[in-house]
Amino acid sequence: MNLEQEIEKRKTFAIISHPDAGKTTLTEKFLLFGGAIKTAGAVKQNKIKKTATSDFMEIEKQRGISVATSVMGFEYKGKKVNILDTPGHKDFAEDTYRTLTAVDSVILVIDSVKGVEAQTERLMEVCRMRNTPVIIFVNKMDREGRNPFEILDELEEKLQIQVRPLTWPISQGQSFQGVYNLYQKQLNLFEPDQTKITEQQIEIQGIEDPELDRWISETFADKLREEVELIEGVYEPFSKGSYLDASLAPVFFGSAVNNFGIKEMLETFLDIAPSPEQRETDQRVVKASENKLTGFVFKIHANLDPNHRDRTAFFKICSGKFERNTFYYHTRLGKKMRFANPTQFMANEKNLIEDAWPGDVIGLYDNGNLKIGDTLTEGEELQFRGIPSFSPEIFKEVINRDPFKSKQLEKGLRQLTEEGVAQLFLQYGNRKILGTVGELQFDVIRFRLEHEYGAKCDFMPLRYFKAFWITPKDNNQYDEFLRRKSSVIAEDKEKHPVFFAESEWMLNVAKENYPGVMFHETSEFK
Ligand code: G4P
Repeated sequence: MNLEQEIEKRKTFAIISHPDAGKTTLTEKFLLFGGAIKTAGAVKQNKIKKTATSDFMEIEKQRGISVATSVMGFEYKGKKVNILDTPGHKDFAEDTYRTLTAVDSVILVIDSVKGVEAQTERLMEVCRMRNTPVIIFVNKMDREGRNPFEILDELEEKLQIQVRPLTWPISQGQSFQGVYNLYQKQLNLFEPDQTKITEQQIEIQGIEDPELDRWISETFADKLREEVELIEGVYEPFSKGSYLDASLAPVFFGSAVNNFGIKEMLETFLDIAPSPEQRETDQRVVKASENKLTGFVFKIHANLDPNHRDRTAFFKICSGKFERNTFYYHTRLGKKMRFANPTQFMANEKNLIEDAWPGDVIGLYDNGNLKIGDTLTEGEELQFRGIPSFSPEIFKEVINRDPFKSKQLEKGLRQLTEEGVAQLFLQYGNRKILGTVGELQFDVIRFRLEHEYGAKCDFMPLRYFKAFWITPKDNNQYDEFLRRKSSVIAEDKEKHPVFFAESEWMLNVAKENYPGVMFHETSEFK
């Protein structure tokens, strides 16, 4: 196969949701369909359990298992499907945001009972920032949920995206009958079953076909006709172009745990979802079809065994062909490196690979040379864009508890922040402030500093609400702001100034008083 065909074959995406909406269940069902796993439960085991929020060791144990399944690849109907796993746990949200920089599209799972939840909105914001095409799956239709029209309105309003249902539920909860496929004019009847993966599909000649009344009761048939008429009247016909330019999200209804509505969505997904196309760098746009290899690291996973302080860097291929044992150019370090043991993840196995193509994610063994955002090329000087840091929400000052181990502490903090466990800000040159999205990260950091670096520290909570990257609109005002607010300004790892706002109110006051200063919620701005 040539490069173009390999690219065309690949669909690299993530399934995202607010915890508990059904991401793990859906992922697992996709793998079952793809034949990548034989029994349900394999992915589930890797999920960070809800009870484990404060039990760090337990989480680490589970995280250990999930290394192999952070990317799940399988072949389905001639396509190579790469699902990038994202941790559902809220405290690992930043990891999820970074993973979203490596996908070409997203399936967003919504709980039909709860509707759009906080984490869903934030995830969608990240997709919007990157113009990522989104398909929405409204899950748990077997439960007494909200009215589907209401759900659609809520999706449009809260997620700020136009939606277009492609299937429509016939009743819900106890009396859930199945879905009508608005696209193929087919009826799919629901049978609660958690083991079988076939669905009863019935061809009918459109919604007026009297056959419909044979399969579902007259009451349901009449209601369905009414609703379909309403949908066709209100919503424009589905446009693949609008989906691909991320202005419209197709919506499917189903029940993941009952295997219902999944095959349909998977097949539509494979039909319409984008293959790798192009990506921006600091120099130019790189097309997936270029012959020379380019790609970037979006995630680093450390081996927690202190005797083997190695790491796996997750590398997304953006163009060309990756080959084992070939020298590539590391653009940040300006040096060549090659990889003898690149791995790829197929379901729950990790395999050595000889080559890989755009859209694939491979694991590169690393002993400290790779950082999140690093780019490899065949010699060209360029750097991929789009691995922003997001404003953390919890801030703590690091207090060294063992002055004889300052070096170890520095090194540990540097390496852990390179892995993206937390963000490190420096104030007055040496005051260290860590920012995270969850409390859990502080347990992770304390434990790893002690066990891997032999350093001990305490954390002193700081009452900031968010950090904002600042840039000048008016140089004089900006300089004055830096001077006056020095007690709440620090530098990030790239030495960009960051302002810590104590409250939303304080932020607004700062914005009002200093119109010559721009405030950004992520580290990447044009
Ligand atoms: P997450 O990864 O998004 O956090 O969600 P996950 O798939 O783990 O699903 C959360 C809970 O919702 C699970 O129940 C799961 O079985 C259930 N669930 C998923 N899909 C459906 C569905 O279509 N209908 C209904 N009624 N429930 C669904 P749990 O009790 O937390 O776990 P388990 O004991 O069932 O494994």
